[in-house]
Amino acid sequence: MAHSATPHTTHTTPTMKTPSTRQEPGPNATGTGRHPTDTPPRRVVIVTGAGTGIGRAAARAFAAEGARVLAVGRRAEPLAETAADAEGDGEIVPYTADITADDAPSNLVRHAIETYGRLDVLVNNAAIVGTGALGSFTKEAMAAQLATNLVAPVLLTQEAVPHLERTGGVVVNISTSIGQRGWPGNAVYAATKTGLELLTRSWAVELAPRGVRVVAVAPGAIETPIALHQGLPEEQRAALRAWQIAHTPMGRIGRPEEVAWAITHLAAPSASFVTGVILPVDGGAVVG
Ligand SMILES: NC(=O)c1ccc[n+]([C@@H]2O[C@H](COP(=O)([O-])OP(=O)(O)OC[C@H]3O[C@@H](n4cnc5c(N)ncnc54)[C@H](OP(=O)(O)O)[C@@H]3O)[C@@H](O)[C@H]2O)c1
Repeated sequence: MAHSATPHTTHTTPTMKTPSTRQEPGPNATGTGRHPTDTPPRRVVIVTGAGTGIGRAAARAFAAEGARVLAVGRRAEPLAETAADAEGDGEIVPYTADITADDAPSNLVRHAIETYGRLDVLVNNAAIVGTGALGSFTKEAMAAQLATNLVAPVLLTQEAVPHLERTGGVVVNISTSIGQRGWPGNAVYAATKTGLELLTRSWAVELAPRGVRVVAVAPGAIETPIALHQGLPEEQRAALRAWQIAHTPMGRIGRPEEVAWAITHLAAPSASFVTGVILPVDGGAVVG
């Protein structure tokens, strides 16, 4: 059964709890101190942007596998919904924070360690989209996109790595499949995502000797409120949807659960020889 916790207040340091599991070495360490018949410890997962869309589906998929999931977002209400409808043996704990706030990455990772004693997976999923052709960009709009889509994942990963090293953990970055081509009218957003892909490949190599895997999932058009959050009016959202379907060989929009499947499988301990990969989940859009 999944549990929810009282959402924390934005920008505040969450209340500390007594660790419910002790830190245990992961598969990259020797001498776990555990008997071979012991139940493996629950994995602890951070998912940013878990209040809606792909992040919500990923949080629920990890919880369904028995993980403890810290579900991160700026708004408490959607996070509480994510936690309330979860199924399975794990738990989803809402954690309200703006990941671009100065102290958010360190507070978030510290909270995971102080509460659960370990960290196994970091999913850098939260992102914001801002459309615009060259000539229309403002410094402020670009700064917000860069801070959310690129800077926060770097700082979060940096905080998480020492703990992921102890568990043989995984970083999963969420990119976008269409950004693997040129993307007129969306170039800055696409640039943040291709930047995240280069970070994925670079960190995979950097962190392989430390036993940490780094992978990415590149969704195509997925049914989420992302265009609503972007502020597109209904008419433009419908036009975008029609264009996306027309440019997807499978002829449909994907479901968040289909992306969550890729996230949980790439993050699974059984994917132990997979690193540096960027997996499109896009109905064939990038090859079509
Ligand atoms: N849907 C698609 O078609 C598609 C395609 C390709 C790639 N993607 C990628 O998939 C990922 C998930 O997108 P989605 O479609 O599920 O969109 P979404 O529903 O808009 O989800 C994004 C989430 O990020 C959270 N968020 C935004 N800024 C934040 C911040 N500063 N701090 C904390 N949380 C923040 C939002 O919640 P709050 O507003 O409450 O903070 C929201 O729940 C993104 O990386 C996106 O680029 C999506």
